[in-house]
Amino acid sequence: MSPNTQEKVAEIEHTAPVVVDAALQKGESLFKQHCTSCHYLDKQLIGPALGGIKQKYADDPKWLYAYIRNNVALIKAGDPKAIALYEANGKAVMTTFPFLSDEDIAAILRYTE
Ligand code: HEC
Repeated sequence: MSPNTQEKVAEIEHTAPVVVDAALQKGESLFKQHCTSCHYLDKQLIGPALGGIKQKYADDPKWLYAYIRNNVALIKAGDPKAIALYEANGKAVMTTFPFLSDEDIAAILRYTE
């Protein structure tokens, strides 16, 4: 491939609509199934808006996965970030999702990007 062609391919890959994005589809369906009763992407519902949440915790993704899986365990363990969120949201209780795999959570987070 000439450098020119390479550039062109990169450009197409970057701008072409993604027709099949399995992770995104899985993320959307998991989000709708488990999160939309309390979260919108763009505004507060029972819990905070989740659009851009992956970026918000870019410095500590492990915490974000643990929180989504079991926020209650973190609160009980005295985790300051989890407690601050709980208090800032009128002590509304978020459901726990111990059955979500890392792949499931990654897909959900992909959907919220
Ligand atoms: C029963 C309501 C409920 C459901 C269902 C729920 N949440 Fe929450 N979520 C909350 C509340 C309320 C908070 C704020 C913290 C608190 O009050 O404990 C929160 C906080 C969060 C936060 C932290 C937000 C921030 O601004 O830092 C994340 C991330 C989150 N939820 C992800 C999810 C995901 C992903 C799902 C679906 C798998 C989900 N939640 C399902 C109620 C819910």
